[in-house]
Amino acid sequence: MLYCGCGSEDGLSLWSEFLNNKQRTIHKWKHYFPAYEAHFSRYVNRPMLFLEIGCGRGGSAQMWKRYLGPHAQIVGLDINPECKKFEEDQIAIRIGSQADTVFLQSVLDEFGTPDVVLDDGSHQMAHVVETFRFLYSKTAKDGVYMVEDLHTAYWDEYGGGVGREGTFIELCKGLVDELNADWSREKLPPTEFTRSTLSMHFYDSIVAFERGRHLEKKDVRVSGRQTLIKGLLK
Ligand SMILES: C[S@@+](CC[C@H](N)C(=O)[O-])C[C@H]1O[C@@H](n2cnc3c(N)ncnc32)[C@H](O)[C@@H]1O
Repeated sequence: MLYCGCGSEDGLSLWSEFLNNKQRTIHKWKHYFPAYEAHFSRYVNRPMLFLEIGCGRGGSAQMWKRYLGPHAQIVGLDINPECKKFEEDQIAIRIGSQADTVFLQSVLDEFGTPDVVLDDGSHQMAHVVETFRFLYSKTAKDGVYMVEDLHTAYWDEYGGGVGREGTFIELCKGLVDELNADWSREKLPPTEFTRSTLSMHFYDSIVAFERGRHLEKKDVRVSGRQTLIKGLLK
C-alpha cells in the first residue's frame, strides 16, 4: 500500500523517528518520508541489508537502524574518511567513491547482496548513473533501489539540465520503455531490467524501483460463469 508505513498505527513511525532524533544530525527533506515509508516499511523488524550511499553527519544511518529494528545491518558508503567514526553496532561505514565500481564490488563481497540501496551521495549525474548501472542488477531480486535529491538532475552544476543527455532522469525515461518492452511489438528487446523490475515510482526528487520476478502476463476476462484466460497480447 503506498503512502502507508506499517511500522506504527499512524503510519508515521519513520517521521516520528526523524523528529524525535536526539542522536547525530540527519539531513532529509520532509516530503521524502511518505516515499521512504511506502518502500521500506516491509523491512521493519526483518533481517536485511540497507546500503546508504552518503553518510553526511551520521544521523541518517542511525535513523534507519532505529526504524528498521534490531535485525537490520546498515552499511554507509562515503568518500569522506571522517565518516568512519559513525560506525557502531549494526552500522558499518566504508570509505570510497560511489563511482568506483571496484570499491562497490568490495562492499558487496564483504556484506553480500543489499536488500535496499539508497543513493544520497554526490548527486552528480555521472556518479548516480554509474552507481545505478553497477548496483541495480546486484540488488536483491525482491529489493528496492531508490535515488533521492534528483532535483540535481535539472541543475547544471551536477551535470543536469532539462532533457540533458546523461542525467539520471533521462536514463529513467528510457527505462520506462524498457519496463514495457514486451508490448513494443518486437521494437524493443526485453532486457535484464525488463525481467527483474516490477515497478518504477516517480516522486518529487525521488525515483524508486521495486525489483521482483516479472509477473505472468495473462489477459483475464470474467463474465457470468466463464473465465477466459489468454496469453500475451501482440
Ligand atoms: C547529502 S549528504 C548525505 C546525507 C545523509 N544521508 C543524511 O541523510 O543525513 C551527501 C554525502 O555524500 C558524500 N559524497 C560526496 N561525493 C561522494 C562520492 N563520490 N561517493 C560517495 N559519497 C560521496 C559526502 O561526503 C556527503 O557525506
